[in-house]
Amino acid sequence: MATSLLDALGELRHQGLAKLAACATSVDLAEWQNTYLGRQDGRLTAILRGLRDVPAEDRKAIGQAANDLKVELEAALAARRADISARELTATLTSERIDVTLPARSLPRGGLHPITRTMRDICRVFSQMGFHIVEGPEVETDYYNFQALNIPADHPARDMQDTFWVVPGQILLRTQTSPNQIRIMEQTRPPVRAVVPGKVYRNEATDATHEAMFHQIEGLLVDRTTTMRDLRGCLERFAREIFGPRTAVRFRPSYFPFTEPSAEVDVTCVVCGGSGCRVCKYSGWVEIAGSGMVHPQVLRVVNYDPTVYRGFAFGMGVERIAMMRYGIDEIRLFSQNDLRFLSQF
Ligand code: DAH
Repeated sequence: MATSLLDALGELRHQGLAKLAACATSVDLAEWQNTYLGRQDGRLTAILRGLRDVPAEDRKAIGQAANDLKVELEAALAARRADISARELTATLTSERIDVTLPARSLPRGGLHPITRTMRDICRVFSQMGFHIVEGPEVETDYYNFQALNIPADHPARDMQDTFWVVPGQILLRTQTSPNQIRIMEQTRPPVRAVVPGKVYRNEATDATHEAMFHQIEGLLVDRTTTMRDLRGCLERFAREIFGPRTAVRFRPSYFPFTEPSAEVDVTCVVCGGSGCRVCKYSGWVEIAGSGMVHPQVLRVVNYDPTVYRGFAFGMGVERIAMMRYGIDEIRLFSQNDLRFLSQF
């Protein structure tokens, strides 16, 4: 009995160490540990159970041998485990290696919308001339959009600026940035120098040059000695900065209820340089703004004394300017969000 148990221990040692050497992964190791050293039904435990039937005088020696084997197998397991985990770690490090010297994958680069860019460029030119840049509400009252600008309810000028009413007769989507002339003057005393960029809305049958929403930049300067020459000087400076140093500006007499006198502002066509093309309809000139001297009635509305102060104002169409700058002949492209168009800027 005693010898057969000793034989079994020898056999177990031999086989166990051989199987351990064959283990390749930590999963194999766990399985091996269960098989040979498992407390419930591992092989060693099974042998130790046999001790009960061993005569008392042999028990000690076999028990000692079994215990030695246990220690030896545990030590062998620990050594093998260290070896395997080192190898597994190396494998993971190799397979999951990140080469930080590779060039980064570049993200697609965003850009400013051509209208935004044009507005910023224009505002920058005016801010260099000392104009503040301010903004006003797109949802406006009839008072600011029309009445305070000398356009009473029955004025024919309203026909050209039909719009979207939020509260009929009272609140509307502004048809022009001009209401900000009133808002600015209500809040400050002269001298005033400001430009107001923003969206405006009109009930419009859209075509290649008309949209129901577009952008304007309003300009206002009020001081004691302001003249039409100052207006012209500012617009010439603006035109040269935006369209190039050889650009010329001309005034054409016009009418706006809130300016007197009033003028349309034309610049020489950038596309053909003034010799005539489709964009300028073969005239050599393109209209980009309305302008004039602030009407005395408008000054009175905001409690500016028209015998002391005078001012000039202008309102320019941003889409028009962007179209000429970039050679675009279809205004609706600006609001269609087609990346093939937008990514060109
Ligand atoms: N608000 C006018 C429009 O949308 C343009 C305009 C004309 C603005 C003359 C002005 C101005 O400030 O003085 O048609």
